[in-house]
Amino acid sequence: RDLREDDMPQAFKDLVSSLPSEEDWVINTLRLYQGFWFPSRLLNGIFNCQNHFQAHPSDILLVTNPKSGTTWLTAILFALLNRAKYSNSNSQRRHPLLTQNSHDLVLHLEHKLYLQQENPDLSALASPRLFVTHLPYSSLPQSVSDSKCKLVYLVRNPKDTFISMWHFFNKMRPEENGQIPIQECLDKFCRGVSPYGPYWDHVLGYQKASLEKPEQVLFVTYEQMKLDPHVHVRRLADFVGCPFSEEELGDGAVEGILRMCSFDNLSSLEVNKSGKLSNGLENKLFFRRGEVGDWVNYMSAEMGERIDGVMDEKLHGSGLKL
Ligand code: A3P
Repeated sequence: RDLREDDMPQAFKDLVSSLPSEEDWVINTLRLYQGFWFPSRLLNGIFNCQNHFQAHPSDILLVTNPKSGTTWLTAILFALLNRAKYSNSNSQRRHPLLTQNSHDLVLHLEHKLYLQQENPDLSALASPRLFVTHLPYSSLPQSVSDSKCKLVYLVRNPKDTFISMWHFFNKMRPEENGQIPIQECLDKFCRGVSPYGPYWDHVLGYQKASLEKPEQVLFVTYEQMKLDPHVHVRRLADFVGCPFSEEELGDGAVEGILRMCSFDNLSSLEVNKSGKLSNGLENKLFFRRGEVGDWVNYMSAEMGERIDGVMDEKLHGSGLKL
């Protein structure tokens, strides 16, 4: 059991201990709750968020499966929404993204806000409020669909997501435990046992929502963003209700945001090379290669085909090809 489970109120502890469990990819526990495998240490934050988060119609929630490019899109959305504040060249030099990791600038619902406090006071946050979450669509607080706030869902191809997760969680493991064998992780991933997994159910929930409510849910892929970032940043800006003006477009505002949020720029900043998040995690853990198709360097063709086979089966009929 995770230490965090011991910190929970008794009613939560009783519920949590009744949930099916599996070892996660570090040395902790995943619990099956509402059809998804959640890191046990976050359940308190998830319960609090579900019970207390009151979405506003103007809110923007970025949702991802872990390791799908959250850090990148968080930075882009932050830069996009705050661009008026930092538009002249003098303030560009003092842009918060140059001295803070995006995870410390944008509040994560269940990792931070509702993990630290049962019902945090959010009244001081300026509108539009931007939040990040990994929660599946079916586990979002009721107020999210009631309020019709905007959801941006970023998805990444499952093989690169898997490899990114494998690297990330290996770095989180205590040295004495050594690396978790890739084959063991692959077995778990293909059974749906990954943080916030099954991966495919997470994706399908948001794909369905984006088809049913395109004005509320925008479905974006990491690969599309890499291929044509200019088009997709403009699409994001339109969707969240702060489109670029002709003047901004002429002044290179989109290119400026893309340059600042590029992998090369963010990963070379001192804060992201040697800094830590407020929760103690090293910022550099969020920057590895940032490429499409890197899985081929770590998995055999056979392993890749295994993931493809599971995805073909699980995504069958959805029209999605990841
Ligand atoms: P890799 O491990 O494949 O390199 P998350 O932010 O959801 O934790 O995802 C991390 C993944 O996004 C890592 O992928 C990381 O390198 C990549 N990433 C981080 N910043 C990026 C950026 N600015 N542009 C593109 N990819 C980025």
